[in-house]
Amino acid sequence: MKSILITGGAGFIGSHVVRLFVTKYPEYKIVNLDKLTYAGNLQNLVDIEKMPNYSFIKGDILDKELILKLFNEYKFDGVIHLAAESHVDRSITNPLEFAETNILGTMVLLNTAKNFWQKNFSDKLFYHISTDEVYGSLGSEGIFTETTPYDPHSPYSASKASSDHFVRAYHDTYGLPIVISNCSNNYGANQFPEKLIPLSINNIKNSRTIPIYGKGENIRDWLFVEDHAAAIDTIFHGGKNGETYNIGGNNEWTNIELIRLLCKIMDEKLGRETGTSEKLITFVKDRAGHDLRYAIDSSKLQNELNWKPSLQFEEGLKKTVDWYLTNEIWLNNVVSGDYQNYYNKQYN
Ligand code: NAD
Ligand code: DAU
Repeated sequence: MKSILITGGAGFIGSHVVRLFVTKYPEYKIVNLDKLTYAGNLQNLVDIEKMPNYSFIKGDILDKELILKLFNEYKFDGVIHLAAESHVDRSITNPLEFAETNILGTMVLLNTAKNFWQKNFSDKLFYHISTDEVYGSLGSEGIFTETTPYDPHSPYSASKASSDHFVRAYHDTYGLPIVISNCSNNYGANQFPEKLIPLSINNIKNSRTIPIYGKGENIRDWLFVEDHAAAIDTIFHGGKNGETYNIGGNNEWTNIELIRLLCKIMDEKLGRETGTSEKLITFVKDRAGHDLRYAIDSSKLQNELNWKPSLQFEEGLKKTVDWYLTNEIWLNNVVSGDYQNYYNKQYN
């Protein structure tokens, strides 16, 4: 019997990880701790919320007393830490919130785990979920490996880089058993429509313009979210103490080419004449400090732990579009209220 704390489990990636662990490991107790910020949504988990091995706790990773109380109550053997402020554009307007949640919140969890486990670290694991953005930006050549020096540029990536350093510091200083994974851009169901793909799907559906930063030449390496969740499962169970694993799709696209493909798929799905959605593409002011290119070398994970991405991009994108078109209520709920204020401030 394992007792596992998953933080940020009501968010995009977290909800896929929670579902995978709750359904695949009925003998584990899974506790999902989430503050339910604008990005957290319990609708993401309705299908598993009544499972006997699952509990949800609404709470903040910065709340030391709560975290200690949960460790005492559930006697966690493992932590899978996903809770974070995750959107680069929001980090540009509100950097302090990112430092608090991503750096201090991670430290609260590390410190509690260290204090709670320190008499016996065996069979314990603190797994920190991080991003490829900590490595900085590539030119047209090169690829991020696990030994690429950190060079973050946005307040978001700087806060994630800092949290990664603290996780390693707790391993080196106190012997806390840890693993870290750094993943590339995820896409799929349940992603909040502030991120490029769901924002564009929602705008195309409503015949609104698709805002592309700069010239659309920036490159990202896209991975289907369920493949990320499978990688997290693989690393949680097979990763070596103290190690870092890169996770990526080996699937680089310029933003403009990706959006052209998405427009083609949306035209087909919505029964619109080919070329209709592309007319919505609008080039807007570039993101400050916009990283040009990310590309991940995940060969360590593939060779040592036998993980690989399962889906081709076009297939994954079609599945994603289908999910957003089918789950209209989910989409309409999350784009009501505050989202409109955010959108108007960000894009007007
Ligand atoms: P998300 O924004 O969709 O979800 C974040 C979740 O964390 C939300 O449910 C939110 O309510 C919760 N949360 C935020 N602050 C909290 C706090 N103080 N206490 C408790 N819960 C809190 O994010 P996501 O895209 O699912 O990313 C999850 C993790 O994966 C993050 O750590 C992110 O840095 C990392 N990551 C994301 C991507 C990506 O492409 N989305 C890629 C690589 C790594
Ligand atoms: O690389 C992993 C990271 O991927 C994660 O750590 C982050 O949490 C996640 O948000 C994502 O960061 P990006 O900044 O790459 O994702 P985003 O969807 O915001 O943007 C993808 C690309 O599209 C980027 O080059 C900026 C561009 N973009 C984005 C938006 C929202 C646009 O051109 N227009 C937009 O409106």
